[in-house]
Amino acid sequence: MALTWSPDSWRSKPIVQVPEYPDKAALDEVEAKLASFPPLVFAGEADKLKRQLADVAAGNAFLLQGGDCAESFAEHSANHIRELFRVFLQMAVVLTYAGGLPVVKVGRVAGQFAKPRSSPTETRDGLELPSYRGDIINGGGFTSEERIPDPNRQLHAYRQSAATLNLLRAFSEGGYASLDNVLRWLLDFENKSPFGKKYREMGEQIQTALQFMRSCGITEQTVPALGRTTFFTSHEALLLGYEQALVRRDEAGGTQAPYATSGHMLWIGDRTRQPDHAHVEFCRGIRNPIGLKVGPSLDADGLLRLIDILNPTDEPGRLTLICRFGSDKVDKHLPGIVRAVKRDGREVVWSCDPMHGNTISAANGFKTRPFDRILKEVNSFFDVHRAEGTYAGGIHVEMTGSPVTECIGGAAANISEAQLNERYDTLCDPRLNADQALELAFLIAERLKRDREEAANSPAPITAVG
Ligand code: PEP
Ligand code: CO
Repeated sequence: MALTWSPDSWRSKPIVQVPEYPDKAALDEVEAKLASFPPLVFAGEADKLKRQLADVAAGNAFLLQGGDCAESFAEHSANHIRELFRVFLQMAVVLTYAGGLPVVKVGRVAGQFAKPRSSPTETRDGLELPSYRGDIINGGGFTSEERIPDPNRQLHAYRQSAATLNLLRAFSEGGYASLDNVLRWLLDFENKSPFGKKYREMGEQIQTALQFMRSCGITEQTVPALGRTTFFTSHEALLLGYEQALVRRDEAGGTQAPYATSGHMLWIGDRTRQPDHAHVEFCRGIRNPIGLKVGPSLDADGLLRLIDILNPTDEPGRLTLICRFGSDKVDKHLPGIVRAVKRDGREVVWSCDPMHGNTISAANGFKTRPFDRILKEVNSFFDVHRAEGTYAGGIHVEMTGSPVTECIGGAAANISEAQLNERYDTLCDPRLNADQALELAFLIAERLKRDREEAANSPAPITAVG
């Protein structure tokens, strides 16, 4: 590893999952243009998220991270963004109220365009073409023309991210996120869900509490926090030329420290976390909070090495480990790495991605994820942390606010394999729809509450058996 880091030091490292741009001069031109553009987020905002994640690591808050697997150029509307934001707020209020913890809200949004692929090519009816790598790189249509990487797509992605972020900031701070509205959304959902009774009870309790607070003079006017929220953005740091072009020094904070300004939090994917490769090199130098996907092929030693590289000073909130083993593999892999990280005294956020290890092919060919496997992975994740005495601090999900039919099951949605073709809109992986996402939030909230109550009633540390 090079001792000195610079925004382009990743360029001298081995790299995987990068597109081959046929026109290098056009790529250089685009990167130079991006480098002259305004930042999308500020260093101070990334630092604020880092502080909130430090609260999560300490067990005092819960991280909710979610959004599309891949954002789309074609589907860029206020409706789509509002629907995601609404279900996000619904989940957050459920976790906050029923789970009893502040929720740190991080969208996979406003920059989540580049996709790693398991195969560099895709074959259909005997025709082999380069794989689709996300709208920031090439097109999803199955023609050789669409699949050629086009650097101009990076300019489109930057502008779309700016517009999405602008709307999210307006939703967060302009009254849409008011607690009164969140109640109305809960009531909408209540009508069609078997969880109705529980929602109504919760809604009524919140309403009573708000009424009481109003009587005490606590209103949006006196406590502005009641009428707004803080929402952060995140995406996979995959297309490093784009990321490098958006690195800015922190002038306002006076530190001159480098930050990726394409989003508040960036994560390293499961396929690009080789410690001596480019993606880890880039991410070690930027000062944003960083996520690291942890899959079954990473062992405890490998993980500790990555933690040393990515968070050598053990800065609180800097590193979130996003575990994605698969419901049948968590029990085998997670305890060992949790113990190793704990033994080494490293402070991290433990988050569970119950999506990426649970993808299967349905009999009719659709890539899907069964809701019961998603739930099983989440429950196993909580079980392991309870047994090890560590804190299960967050969840990372692919979800959308639209009524898509991409993941099967769920008590409220109850999607069957035969229904997958009804509304299968995703550009890449299957997402939870709004009903499934909210159901998951309720189940997690119950679990959080139960685990905390149990911990309060059993002061002696629980140790693992075997
Ligand atoms: C993703 O989050 O969309 C993804 C590709 O995940 P992973 O790197 O864990 O496979
Ligand atoms: Co995905």
